[in-house]
This record gives sequence, structure tokens and C-alpha cells, in this order.
Amino acid sequence: MDEIEARINRDYDARRSPQDRPFTAEELIEASSGADALFVTPHDRLDSSFFKQVSASVKVIATYSVGLDHIDLQAAADRKIAIAYTPGVNADATAEIAMLLMLGAARRAYEGQEMVRTVAWTLSSQTLLGWQLTGKILGIFGMGRVGQAVAQRASGFGMTIHYCDATRLPAALEKGAVFHSSAPDLLRVSQFLTLHAPETQETHHFINSKTIDLLPHGAILINAARGGLVVDEDLIAALKTGRIAAAGLDVYEGEPKLHPGYVALKNTFLLPHMGSATVETRLAMGMLALDNIDSVLAGKPAPSLVTKQ
Ligand code: DGY
Repeated sequence: MDEIEARINRDYDARRSPQDRPFTAEELIEASSGADALFVTPHDRLDSSFFKQVSASVKVIATYSVGLDHIDLQAAADRKIAIAYTPGVNADATAEIAMLLMLGAARRAYEGQEMVRTVAWTLSSQTLLGWQLTGKILGIFGMGRVGQAVAQRASGFGMTIHYCDATRLPAALEKGAVFHSSAPDLLRVSQFLTLHAPETQETHHFINSKTIDLLPHGAILINAARGGLVVDEDLIAALKTGRIAAAGLDVYEGEPKLHPGYVALKNTFLLPHMGSATVETRLAMGMLALDNIDSVLAGKPAPSLVTKQ
């Protein structure tokens, strides 16, 4: 974005990745030589091998994301490199995309679009009957800022909110939502289930054939968090039988590639990882990333460094 680029040009001597792709791992290591800071995205995999080779000059790495699954935080801590991220500022935009996925999947938006755009819609076309959000139970797995923003919006659609997280929210934030301390308990009641947890060792492949079997028959699944939360083959099998009626997905394991099984199905509503992709949010994320870099390099408290290791 122009404003972010202008600030970088004003304040830093930047080495940029090629316009059409991120740096390769080798290029990023090379670019780190003599650098004080790195500004990365989730496409940059900062694993233990990267941290063994990154230049000793690097004091802070700011990722243009709230997600941290692409960074080996322990390896960063071992090298005493501060990691900054962008929590909070993406919540509204991502919650909007979650609602779009929910509506798109439940109201068969892909099939509707296809019918209109291929001029296949005639007066004898079968009406595309979907499922209403009104009156349904929405299970939210991960009730951080994004989960709470989804709860607020979904309540407006007349949904009853249930959620599961490591700790129960205070009443002022819970706003009447029903807390489940166990994920299976949440799944059993979730006519719609939306995922808003980070991808960690604990949540990796959380949605699989076993957890799908806990959901009510014909549940609708939404994922705007990380693709690695889902075992693709298991979800695709459930979508084929109608065990899961529809899925709205913005994220995929191994993206930008996605399992071709999703594309072949009509009961999927698919987007290309655009949860935070609004002008307002991407600008706020960029500015926050740069605020973090500026603060660390100036020896001042930074607004959002990763503290939990
Ligand atoms: C995030 O901020 O983590 C979004 O998923 C964009 O990558």
C-alpha cells in the first residue's frame, strides 16, 4: 500500500522481495545481512533453520499478520530476536469475511453465482434452497478478538452463540454466549461451526473424521483462521455425503494451493485467504508492524510483541 511503502522509504533503507513473489528462504537470509529489522508475511517460513542462519544484526522481525504459525517462536527467543505481530486490527475485517462465508455456504451462493453467470438460470431452474442462519446455534472455536467480533455479528442474524476457548470470558465480553470448556461439547451442539483459533500443535487437524462425527447432521463449517486446522480429505468426504451440508473456507493447508476436492464440490463457498484484506485493515496492520519496528530499534516499549513463548 502506498502509505506503508512511503513510510518505509522515508525511514528505512529497505531491501524488497521481487514484486511478483516473496523472498525465497535463501534470499531472505541474504537480505538479513546487516539489517536491523525484517518485515515479513505469512508466506515467509521462519523455521529453526532460518533462525540458525539469520544475520546477528537483526533485532526485531515484524510479521504482517496476527497469525504466528509460520514462525518458530522458540528459535526466535533463543536468538533473542523480538517478534512483533498485528493482533486486534484485523478482527472486524476477518469477522466480516466469516459472515460472508457463513451466508455464502448456507445460502448456496456459489451455485447461485454459477447459475446467473453461465446464463443457466431459467424459470424452470430448480430453486436453490439453502439454510437460514436465524435461530441456529453457532459454535465458535477460539473466542479471541475475531471470535468475539463474529459473535457480535452473528447475534444480529438471530443466532445463539456457543463457544470454546482455553478460558471463559468475563461476562461483559461473553455477552450471553454459552461457554464450553471442552471442544467435543461445543461440537455436539454446533449447527454452524466457525474456527477462529490459531494453528498450534494442539489445534492442528482439529477438524477430522472423528470431530466431524460429533457435529449435528448437516452442520455447516466455516474456516477463516488457518487451513491446517482441517484434515481436507475428511471434510471433503463429509461434504460429499451431506454429513456436513456445506463449508465456507477462506484458508487452506498448503495455500495458495488447495485440495482439488473442494473445487469440484458445489456445496463449498471458497475465497482466497482474504480475511484481513480491506484497505482499512491492511493499512492498520502495516502501520502497527512499523510502529513495532520503530519502537524496538529506539529501545522503547513496542505496541505488540509476542510475549508468550
Ligand atoms: C493474519 O493476519 O494472520 C491473516 O490471516 C493474514 O495473513
